[in-house]
Amino acid sequence: MSVSADPVKLMKQEVGKAAAALVKSNSIVGLGTGSTTAYTIQFLGDRLKSGELKDIVGIPTSFQSEVLAKQYGVPLTTLDAIDHIDIAIDGADEVDPLKNLIKGGGAAHTREKVVDYLAKEFIVVVDSGKLVDRLGSSFAVPVEVIPMAITPVINAIKKLGGQPELRMGVKKAGPVITDQGNMVVDVTFEKIDDPVTLETTLNNIPGVLENGIFVNCVSQVLIGEVIDGKPSVRQM
Ligand code: 5RP
Repeated sequence: MSVSADPVKLMKQEVGKAAAALVKSNSIVGLGTGSTTAYTIQFLGDRLKSGELKDIVGIPTSFQSEVLAKQYGVPLTTLDAIDHIDIAIDGADEVDPLKNLIKGGGAAHTREKVVDYLAKEFIVVVDSGKLVDRLGSSFAVPVEVIPMAITPVINAIKKLGGQPELRMGVKKAGPVITDQGNMVVDVTFEKIDDPVTLETTLNNIPGVLENGIFVNCVSQVLIGEVIDGKPSVRQM
């Protein structure tokens, strides 16, 4: 694996690699989405190729992780074919001191939640810039909405005190469309005091498929840092 000179990339590379090193042979692995877990998938492929790791199968959380797994030679399966997931490794957009998360920067939070919540061990991989005192400090809450319900859902979110913004595509005219064919509304709240309740409240709006607040599900957070120019990884 080539090593990057960009400090953020370097942190992501190191932490992604550290998480991949936790995967044991003969295990079923949830493959997260994003630029950090891309390094995890790449390193899992390297470990399989060298023979150090054997007989793993991955469950992708998005088209992105499916494509990467195929590219790096990580065999895949589906949730229909297995009865458990040993370990899931995924990124996050924010992590609070209680290890609650905001996810969905890549609009993959619905599949990510299914896979990450099923895993016996859920490892989160972030660079140190993702740590916050309170969720919602720097990142809006992504909410996946079925297209026919977009207007009533936006109105309901405004009534809750949120500021919703339909996520628009980059290098694609119009809104982002998820792997499930839905849209994403990014919701800014003045402050999120109770993420547990907010997760449920948002999901109870008819037309909402899933939101990006992940609570009480994380086993371990690995944090990539650059200290004195050198990359290091610590546990939260
Ligand atoms: C995708 C996600 C990602 O895991 C999250 O956005 C972090 O991504 P990155 O590792 O690129 O910073 O939730 O929906």
